[in-house]
Amino acid sequence: MTGKRLILGQVLEFSGDPAREGSGAARHRRRGAVLVADGHIVAVDEADILRAAHPEAAVTDHGDHLILPGFIDAHAHYPQTAIIASWGKRLIDWLNSYTFPEEMRFGDPDYATRVAARYFDLVLSHGTTTVASYCTIHPESVEAFFAKAQARGLRMLAGKTCMDRDTAPEGLRDTAQSAYDDSKALLDRWHGVDRLSYIVTPRFSPTSTRGQLDALGTLWAEHPDCLMQTHLSEQTDEIAWMHSLYPEARDYLDTYEAHGLLGENGLYGHAIHLTPREIDRLAEVGAALVHCPTSNTFIGSGLFDMSLRARMRVGLATDTGGGSSFSMLRTMAAAYEIAQLRGTALHPSELIWLATGASAEALKLGDRIGRLAPGYEADMIALDLASTPAIAQAAARAEDIWQAIFPTIMMGDDRAIIQTYIAGQPVKPD
Ligand code: GUN
Ligand code: ZN
Repeated sequence: MTGKRLILGQVLEFSGDPAREGSGAARHRRRGAVLVADGHIVAVDEADILRAAHPEAAVTDHGDHLILPGFIDAHAHYPQTAIIASWGKRLIDWLNSYTFPEEMRFGDPDYATRVAARYFDLVLSHGTTTVASYCTIHPESVEAFFAKAQARGLRMLAGKTCMDRDTAPEGLRDTAQSAYDDSKALLDRWHGVDRLSYIVTPRFSPTSTRGQLDALGTLWAEHPDCLMQTHLSEQTDEIAWMHSLYPEARDYLDTYEAHGLLGENGLYGHAIHLTPREIDRLAEVGAALVHCPTSNTFIGSGLFDMSLRARMRVGLATDTGGGSSFSMLRTMAAAYEIAQLRGTALHPSELIWLATGASAEALKLGDRIGRLAPGYEADMIALDLASTPAIAQAAARAEDIWQAIFPTIMMGDDRAIIQTYIAGQPVKPD
């Protein structure tokens, strides 16, 4: 075994979902250590024990900083990096005014490559080590994303966003056949290469024809180990629009179900305004939902129902650039606030789990990333729990780790990310 490294600090390990198992699912070590080698976690224990057992290991001591798994963003649009925080629109107008004009630019491989590079700089500096991203209709946008991710050794997931209806603008449309062909070619080229996974990606039923949904349902059936990602019931106006385009559909989910796009490896973003039938079907097939709280407040979509976690996997996501932050800390804060508006207080352990283990499970990667445990990939962060004066003075009153971490969840940003490790290697510039 080569390149042993011991990373010291406070350490939080989760054995499972604290919403199910209680906060006992998390174990806190005041002076802990993570031993990594060959890109993987070898052991997690008390610092003294691992130091004595591995005197040859290189040591990085993060002191009081908290070692956590890297954050996992289960739904984002890297091509929307430049239009984040665009003012004043709800979903459909926001897509037409800001998103689609920007996405048109990604047929240019140089532009796509520049934005992909900038996007990875941003997410890594915010402590996010895995993203499930939408690209644009252009294969070049997918190439750029995967090539940059591969060069940095990242575990990333993405797919070509497919749109062939005239509801999408001229210049940002493919066809049923080209969506199938291009997606298949990209899948064959990238899926399972290094740490990369391809996701079959119809944008949402309002911008696809039935023929395109069928074609992508066929592709998914041919590659059942792939994930499929799309948007579901984000805004009420969008649902009315969907019904006008698919008058035969019982509900929004039915537009996917009727075309082979409902399954256990399906990731359904937003999923705010669901009917009882949709909830039952999603639970029955074992699909995953993705909660995008900063987007839901920013675009004015609604309040996701966290109690759905009792019935299915739920991941957490920024949904940049509909979401208003690259930070999964800010995203946890928004999830907390939305749950409060629905009458539930999410415990800090649940918030951390949502951004790590739960998102990993939503992406079907719960056995590789999202936890600090032997055998897991060593994508990790060191988090400063006193990164600003406001946070430091609030955290100073803390009597346990949860009180110590909550001010950072609510008020923290990239200044709290002291270091990001990819496969055991530090990647944040000094
Ligand atoms: N629905 C369809 N496309 C999008 C998108 O790009 N962002 C959001 N928030 N919702 C969508
Ligand atoms: Zn989205």
